[in-house]
Amino acid sequence: MGRHTVLIAAGPTHEPIDGVRYLANRSSGRMGIALAEAATSRGLPTTLLLGPTPLAPPQHSQLTTRRFQTTAELQTLLGELWPGHTVLIMAAAVADYRPARPEGPAAKRPRSGSWTLELEATPDLLAGLAAAARPDQLTIGFALEPADRLADSAREKLAAKNIDGIVANPLETLGDDLISGTLLLRDGTEHVPPHTPCTKRVFAQWLLDRIEQLRP
Ligand code: CTP
Repeated sequence: MGRHTVLIAAGPTHEPIDGVRYLANRSSGRMGIALAEAATSRGLPTTLLLGPTPLAPPQHSQLTTRRFQTTAELQTLLGELWPGHTVLIMAAAVADYRPARPEGPAAKRPRSGSWTLELEATPDLLAGLAAAARPDQLTIGFALEPADRLADSAREKLAAKNIDGIVANPLETLGDDLISGTLLLRDGTEHVPPHTPCTKRVFAQWLLDRIEQLRP
């Protein structure tokens, strides 16, 4: 996989409500950080887009880390950087909804009665990037699902986003150090690591092996 350059998006998004409040999720960024370590340990030039998490990004001569807070910032970074990479792994927990009319960074809404917050849907970043992918580019997503409809729902997302593969991931994995992920591919095959659940570090190396087999 010597010719690959890897772009990884990881961590949560923070969507501002006003200058002090935001909407977020429980993603830690651990999976994406493990993927960045696995890719650089193979000598692959790697870019890690890391959302707001207290975890420190790894230090490696082959790794460039860029930080984002919002879905819009992540969208801009991906648009700028995706053309220069051949593999995209979207492990970020991107907000599905954000405040429709956030107040500016200098504002704080005072407490007064009840408050109805209007949310707008965010664009599907992965679907947009997959639609514009070149034949030499590979796109892998993550699907966080309740365990009872994990595979069906992940398969629907694989088709709807028109990506090459998706890691079906039970909800409980969010923020944990272990993952019981299944890789579903466009050709209908399913792949599971030899020991599952496993640490995100082990899963990351296994996933890069699968990518290498898929696109040597
Ligand atoms: N994703 C994205 N842009 C969004 C939402 C999600 O690129 N606005 C990406 C995630 O990074 C992940 C994949 O899409 O790789 C699946 O995310 P998930 O939240 O499981 O699915 P959604 O497409 O958001 O569908 P739903 O929330 O309805 O389950």
